[in-house]
Order: sequence, then C-alpha cells, then structure tokens
Amino acid sequence: KSTISREIAKSFGFIYVDTGAMYRTVGLYVRRRGINPRDDVEVSRVLPDIHIDIKYENGVQRMLLNDEDVTDAIRAHEISAFASDVSAIPEVRSFLLGMQRRFAEIYNVIMDGRDIGTVVLPSATVKIFLTASPEDRAKRRYLELCGKGSDIAYEKVLEDINTRDINDSSRAVAPLKPADDALVVDTTGNTLAQSIELIKRLIEERIKDAL
Ligand code: DC
Repeated sequence: KSTISREIAKSFGFIYVDTGAMYRTVGLYVRRRGINPRDDVEVSRVLPDIHIDIKYENGVQRMLLNDEDVTDAIRAHEISAFASDVSAIPEVRSFLLGMQRRFAEIYNVIMDGRDIGTVVLPSATVKIFLTASPEDRAKRRYLELCGKGSDIAYEKVLEDINTRDINDSSRAVAPLKPADDALVVDTTGNTLAQSIELIKRLIEERIKDAL
C-alpha cells in the first residue's frame, strides 16, 4: 500500500502522506513510556508530550518524534500492535486528524490510511480502497521483513495481519471500511508494477472528470 502510494505520488509530483506512520509514532512513544496502549486515560494523558513532525528527504517521508528521527524505529514488528491499539482511542485519532487535514490543505497529496476517504478527507477528488488477500499481504510483508534481516516466520506475519484486520475493522471508532464513493481495487495476484499502472490510470480518469 505504501509502496504503491509513494510511487503514484512521485509520478504526479504530489506529496505522499503515510498516516499509519503517525499512529506508529504514537505507538512507539507509548511503548517507550511503558504505558498500556489500550489504556485510553493514560494514553490520552501523555498526548500533549508527543510532538510529531514530518519532513521529506528526496521525497521520502521521515517521522520525527520530539525531534528524534524515528522513521526506522516505528517499522519494528512489535510496534504494529501498539499502533493498532492506540489507533482505536478517539483522542489519538482527533490528535492526528488536524495534522492530516492541514497537509491536504497545503499540498496536493496522496494520503494513505484506513479512514482517509471516510473521515479525514471526505471530499477527496479520488478515493481508492486498496485490498488484497491476507495471504498475499503477508507474503509481501514477510519478504519486506526478510529483506531487512528479520527471521520472523511467515505464519506469524499472517497471524498478525489477520488479528490486526479484525481489530481495525471491528472497532467502534473509524473502522476500516471503503467510502461509498471509493473505487475498490483488489491487488491479489498483481505485480507491484501492474497495481501502480492500474491505479495511475484510475486517478488520471477521475482527475480528468473533475476538471
Ligand atoms: O498502515 P500501518 O500498518 O502503518 O498502520 C498502523 C496502524 O495504524 C494500523 O493498525 C491501523 C492504524 N491506522 C489507522 O487506524 N488509521 C489510519 N489512517 C492509518 C493507520
């Protein structure tokens, strides 16, 4: 999802905003502080201590947490569960919402995240709901992690993806669901290049219609 978004943004000359990275940054902070990520009260209490910045280096989004570059740290496998847990807390969502909308006001953006079309940018010009089978996604993530030297088992990656899907889709706040006017694109079995071409075409068509 992020690879496709990044490539698409580059080809249109837009800025790529990965909102999952923002939730991951909050998750990392909470973990470092030893706070239970499901504890709404404790997590909300430390939000004012969290200062998140995004900067771009050669088009790559880098995340800053209280001035520390945490771009790599937030990708650690164990941070995924923390990010998923804190993302279910309404105060965390509204904390990040303002920042996300400001980006879209200032720049042409490809914004990637589960609630962008439904909540964050309901009047976005183009909305794409990207999906693929859990097995395909696990395979891609597994290969990505292996490439980074991880020795995690494929089965563990698949299990975590399934758990996270249930968490993200069943939660009361901003559940994962396509916007009514989103184009649903299933990339199962596609190569990356095929998915990028397909989505580029869809965006071009929609932008043309919007002019
Ligand atoms: O896309 P990702 O794996 O980096 O996202 C990390 C977590 O953040 C994921 O469990 C769901 C959550 N998230 C969210 O709730 N809303 C978003 N717009 C982006 C991510």
